[in-house]
Amino acid sequence: MTNLSRKFPLTRLRRTRSKAGLRAMLAEVSLKKEDLIQPVFIKEGLKGLEPIDSMPGINRFGLDVINKEVKEIVDVGIKSIAVFPVINEEKKDSAGLEAVNENNLISMAIQQIKKEFPELIVIADVALDPYTNHGHDGVLDESGEVDNDASLLVLKQQALILAKAGTDVIAPSDMMDGRIGVIRESLEEAGFKNTAICAYSAKYSSKFYGPFKDAVESAKFFGNKTKDSYQMAINNIDEALHEVSMDINEGADIVMVKPGMPYLDVLKAVKDAFGMPTFVYQVSGEYSMMMAAIEKGWLSEEVIFESLIAFKRAGADCILTYAAKDIASRL
Ligand code: PBG
Repeated sequence: MTNLSRKFPLTRLRRTRSKAGLRAMLAEVSLKKEDLIQPVFIKEGLKGLEPIDSMPGINRFGLDVINKEVKEIVDVGIKSIAVFPVINEEKKDSAGLEAVNENNLISMAIQQIKKEFPELIVIADVALDPYTNHGHDGVLDESGEVDNDASLLVLKQQALILAKAGTDVIAPSDMMDGRIGVIRESLEEAGFKNTAICAYSAKYSSKFYGPFKDAVESAKFFGNKTKDSYQMAINNIDEALHEVSMDINEGADIVMVKPGMPYLDVLKAVKDAFGMPTFVYQVSGEYSMMMAAIEKGWLSEEVIFESLIAFKRAGADCILTYAAKDIASRL
């Protein structure tokens, strides 16, 4: 942009702000329903729904009611959901084996949802944390470290099962090195050439995921450990670009930055550098923080919309946000 600004009063920036019509016409970015992706939690054995204490307004749904919820999401004009499983505790083990059971909860749920809503874009996470009794995203070696290459073997099977169930977009959120390449190759080999991959490329080791661990009931399994040996250090942005470039080279169709609000600089840098379809995840902690302040009456609920506009300004194509359904119903 060149500086064309003339002297006051030739230039009055308030002129174009003076009428609602002009403000709307000149909005540089805007939020569409198509930009919003609703994450949903599906719980094994649950009848009906149950609220998640740390995420006001968000529920876990049983298989018996999930399609009803999805219908509401579709009816407000949303094109995509991201599904997250909450499995029976007894099914968790150190290898996350339930993740590669073809008839597991998430496969059943995806099939059931796609049957009624074939046009809906279903995104599913690839990571073992909902399935392991230690809460890590991969499997452990003898010393208790997350074993990268051993994890890849399980993750690629998990991805295949999700593809078979009808997942449109596989979203590896595990942060193992090489996962995108391994998953892309096995999808191609198995004939899933149009199953897309959205890589959680710049996924930080963030405390903003706290309420999510409550939502998927993995908090008590995970305890006070960290994922620092595989998720990114919060200090780094050059490394985020490195991660994204690797994932693109390995076959990612879409890249993602996560969390959102505290990492807007990363989002902008990623979009500017690669021009790829870029998603951002407004994670559980960001959502709950705003909702808590709204419930207390300290903030107006419009702050959520404002936060989503910030993502569009920074270059996001789509936003995973727990507020998707609510916001879309008002757009
Ligand atoms: C699983 C996963 C996490 C989130 C999405 N997928 C948790 C984590 O990595 O610890 C967090 C989402 C949120 O906080 O809303 N790997």
